[in-house]
Amino acid sequence: MERPDLLPDPTAQFGRWLEEAQAAGVTMPDAMTLATADAGGRPSARTVLLKGADAEGFRFFTNTESRKGRELAENPRAALVFHWQQEPRRQVIVSGDVEPLSREESQAYFDTRPLGSRLGAWASRQSSVVPDREALERAFAEAEAEHGDDPPLPPWWGGYLLRPARFEFWQNRPNRLHDRFRYTRVPDGGWLLERLAP
Ligand SMILES: Cc1cc2nc3c(=O)[nH]c(=O)nc-3n(C[C@H](O)[C@H](O)[C@H](O)COP(=O)(O)O)c2cc1C
Repeated sequence: MERPDLLPDPTAQFGRWLEEAQAAGVTMPDAMTLATADAGGRPSARTVLLKGADAEGFRFFTNTESRKGRELAENPRAALVFHWQQEPRRQVIVSGDVEPLSREESQAYFDTRPLGSRLGAWASRQSSVVPDREALERAFAEAEAEHGDDPPLPPWWGGYLLRPARFEFWQNRPNRLHDRFRYTRVPDGGWLLERLAP
C-alpha cells in the first residue's frame, strides 16, 4: 500500500475498505471495539455496531445510562477499532470527540429495529446489576404488557456521533513490515497523511 492507493478523504477510504471486507466475507465487518474512559482516565471497551459513517462522523446506538454512556457524558471522547481478519487482513482505528445524536435521529433509528429489540431496550437497564435471568424476563414481559407492539423511544436509549480527528489504516504485510497510514485533521479542515512504522 502506497500513498497514491489512499483516497484523500479518510471516510471515503474507510468506506472502500468496509466494502472490501464485506466482499471478502468478513463476519460482521461493522462490529467495532468502542473504547471510552471516565473522567479519571480509567478506560473501558466493548463491541458495538457501526450504524453509518459519513462526512459528519461515525454513528452507533446504545443505552445512554450504560457504563459507556456515563463515560461519554463525563468525557466525550472515544476510539473505534475495526479488525478484519480475513485476507486482506486489515485494521482501522478512528478517534475523536463524541456527541449525542438528536432525539429525532435516535427515534428514526429506533423505529427501524425489530419489536423484540425495542422492547428489550425498555426491559434492560444496561450495565446495572440484575439478580437473575428471571428478573430480565419479567421486565421484558412488563414492557410488552405496557407498550404492546408500539414501544416509544426509551428516555435512556439513543445514538452517538463520533467526529473523527484521526484515522489509522493498517494493512498486514510480510515480515511484520505492515503498512500503517495515519490521517490527522488539520485546522483548515483538510487531512495530514503520514506513514507510521509498524
Ligand atoms: C457483535 C456485538 C455487537 C454489539 N452491538 C452493540 C450495540 O450496537 N449497542 C450496544 O449498546 N451494545 C452492543 N453490544 C453489547 C456491548 O458489547 C456491551 O456488552 C453493552 O453495550 C454494555 O456495555 P457497557 O457496560 O460497557 O456500556 C454488542 C456486542 C457484540 C458482541
